[in-house]
Amino acid sequence: MILALESSCDETAVAIFDPLRGLTGEWVHSQIALHERHGGVVPDLATREHLRHFAPLLTRARAEAGFDGVTQIAVTNGPGLAACLAIGVAAAKSLALALKVPVVGVNHLRGHVWSPFIELHTKGPAEFEARLAELLPHLGLIVSGGNTLLFTLSADRRITVLSSTRDDAAGEALDKGAKLLGLGYPGGPLIEQQARKGRPDAFDFPRGIGRRDELDFSFSGVKTSLRYQIEKLAPAEVQARLPDLSASYQQAVLDALARKTRAALAQGAGSFRSLGLSGGVANNQALRTALAGEAKRHRIPFLPAQPKHTGDNAGMIAFAAWADITGTERSSGLGLRVEPSAGLA
Ligand code: KG4
Repeated sequence: MILALESSCDETAVAIFDPLRGLTGEWVHSQIALHERHGGVVPDLATREHLRHFAPLLTRARAEAGFDGVTQIAVTNGPGLAACLAIGVAAAKSLALALKVPVVGVNHLRGHVWSPFIELHTKGPAEFEARLAELLPHLGLIVSGGNTLLFTLSADRRITVLSSTRDDAAGEALDKGAKLLGLGYPGGPLIEQQARKGRPDAFDFPRGIGRRDELDFSFSGVKTSLRYQIEKLAPAEVQARLPDLSASYQQAVLDALARKTRAALAQGAGSFRSLGLSGGVANNQALRTALAGEAKRHRIPFLPAQPKHTGDNAGMIAFAAWADITGTERSSGLGLRVEPSAGLA
């Protein structure tokens, strides 16, 4: 049984994964309400909140699930905010000492890689292995506030990064766009809300890097273009056209994501057997619909992460500690360090 801790940014989270039964418990304390007032995550405040909330969360987890069967502690050790990661890693090492079990570091992005597969684990490891074998090689898109990348997961579970963003991440572009529109934080869901009432073709915003053979993303152009558009309008007009501006801006960001995913599927020439979507922006309904369409066109299953496993969560960290046989053994033991700028591969 794996007990996992996650504190890379603004959620303090604990989860327990039992290889025979799947995720048996998840406990989260979200700091969104605190950071909302500041228009974004304040690292110092986030660190203090992790320090305050790990002990009560772990106490609850122990009361509700018991720690008797725990054989391993897993903890996110990067990428993320250094001091926030350090709180989780220190807590994990203390737990490992107290429970006399090993501790392993899990790359947060590898958690996102594996999050769409959590739901496949319903009837134990043998059933999971059989279902997984039918879905690899896999193409995945991770879209969060800090990352936007396409990767492949091969039949022997090796991860290869195909492309990433040259500037802003998709979530960052949505958050910055929302700020320009005066909508608040986090911007993605607020833009989505406005976009439902607007026309996606009302304004013409750029779609990142146009070349089809180029899989990298770029979102700085669309953000600048929104700023120019807002400057051209009177403040009352911006207010009146918030739904149209939001819908058009969101469409430009989502189109760029869908186009590059389509290009990667085409470059794979039928070799991919599933398409995954994970990270906070994966909550976006229009993006889920667009990628479901891409998967359908290639007649492969679409695996979006469940909403509770899209943002930061410990469930995906526990699951990756078990399923990711190529990544977790690389960083383990009481000498475990934080790696704030770790990449995926
Ligand atoms: O994965 P996550 O918690 O961030 C990182 O750890 O980086 O994702 C947060 C990001 C934010 O940029 C937020 O605006 C975006 O995910 N997001 C959304 C939606 N819900 C969250 N973006 C678009 N539509 C949504 N419904």
